[in-house]
Amino acid sequence: MKILTYRNFGSADVLEWSDWELPKCSNNSVVIKLTAASVNPKDILLRKGKFSRTLARDPLPRSCGMDGSGVIVDVGHDIQKLKVGDKVMSMTNQFIGCMHAEYAEVKENEVFKLPDDIDDLTLQTMAAMPLAGMTALQGLRDYGQLLAEQKVLVVGASGGVGHFAIQIAVALGATVDGVCSAQNIEFIQSLGAKTGFDYRKGSSELPCSTYDLVFDVFGKTAFSDYKNCLKSTGRYVSKVPTLQNIFGELRYRAFKSSKIRLVNVWSNTQDMSWLFENFRKGALKPTISNVYEADQMKQAHCQIESKHTLGKVLIRIG
Ligand SMILES: NC(=O)c1ccc[n+]([C@@H]2O[C@H](COP(=O)([O-])OP(=O)(O)OC[C@H]3O[C@@H](n4cnc5c(N)ncnc54)[C@H](OP(=O)(O)O)[C@@H]3O)[C@@H](O)[C@H]2O)c1
Repeated sequence: MKILTYRNFGSADVLEWSDWELPKCSNNSVVIKLTAASVNPKDILLRKGKFSRTLARDPLPRSCGMDGSGVIVDVGHDIQKLKVGDKVMSMTNQFIGCMHAEYAEVKENEVFKLPDDIDDLTLQTMAAMPLAGMTALQGLRDYGQLLAEQKVLVVGASGGVGHFAIQIAVALGATVDGVCSAQNIEFIQSLGAKTGFDYRKGSSELPCSTYDLVFDVFGKTAFSDYKNCLKSTGRYVSKVPTLQNIFGELRYRAFKSSKIRLVNVWSNTQDMSWLFENFRKGALKPTISNVYEADQMKQAHCQIESKHTLGKVLIRIG
C-alpha cells in the first residue's frame, strides 16, 4: 500500500508517498481503508523534527497523519461492535501518526462507527472532526470545566480547533467570544461567537473581569495576557506545552487546583460520538477550506504551515 513518509526532517519537500507493508489487525484493533484524512499542525511539527528528542524518537523513515475517515476492511478477534464494511471516523493515539495512507490500523476505542446511510461526501467531511473536534471538546468541557451560562473567550477562533470550539461552547450552553484576524470576525460570528476581537489589536481591547475561561487555541500568548479579562475565579487552558503551562497542568494533577491547564487530546469513541450527535443535530458544522488530492500533500502542508487556515484542510485518499 502507499503511505505518506519522510526520510529526513525538513520542509514539505521531504514528503513522499512510499510503498509500505499492509497493516495487520491485533486482537483489539481494526484496519481502515481511508477515504480522506485531515492535516493538522502536529503533522508539520513532526515532519520538522520538533519532538525528535522527546516524545517522538521513532526511527526515520516515518509515517504521518493523525485522523481520518473510511471503511473497515478487517477486524481483530476480540472486536464485537465493529465489522467489515462499517463506515468510521478515527484518530490514532500513536504519537507519530499513520493515517495519511491507503490503510491504517487503529484500536477499537479510537474509532467511531458512522451510520450506514451516510453519503460519500459526509464520510469525507467526517475526516475533519476527530482530532480538532476532540481537542476543542476536551479543552472546553474537561480541562476548562466550562458550564452552561458561563462566558468563554476562544483565542485562534477561526482555525481547525478554534472554529469547533466556538460551536461546542454554544452547544454546552455558554456565551462565547473569539479572537482572530479582522477578516474572519464575521465567520466566527456566523458560528455563534457574540463578539470578535482582532488579535492585531492586542489583549488591551478585551473587556475586564468578564470570562470564566480563556481557551488559548493558538497558544502564542500566556496566562498573564488574559489576567485582566478573566474573573477572579477564571481559568486559562492552552494547547501549547510552554514551561508555565506544563507546570500549571502538573500542579492541577497533584493538588487539583490550578488556574492554568494544558490540553493533551486523547482519542476515544465517546467523544467522537458526542461530536457526531451534535453534527447530526446541526449544532456542529465542520468548515473545510480546501480538499487536496493525494499528490498535493506538499500544498496541504504549506497551507497549514501558513498558520492562517480557515477551518480545516482535508486530503482525499480513496
Ligand atoms: N495539545 C494538543 O493536544 C493539541 C491538539 C491540537 C492542536 N494543538 C495545537 O494547537 C494549535 C492550533 O491548532 P489548529 O488546528 O487550530 O491550527 P490552524 O487550523 O492552523 O489554525 C490557525 C488559526 O490561528 C489563527 N491565528 C494566526 N495568528 C494568530 C494570532 N496571533 N492570534 C490568534 N490567532 C491567530 C488564524 O487565524 P486567522 O486566519 O484569522 O489569522 C487561524 O485561523 C497548533 O499549535 C497545534 O499544534 C494542540
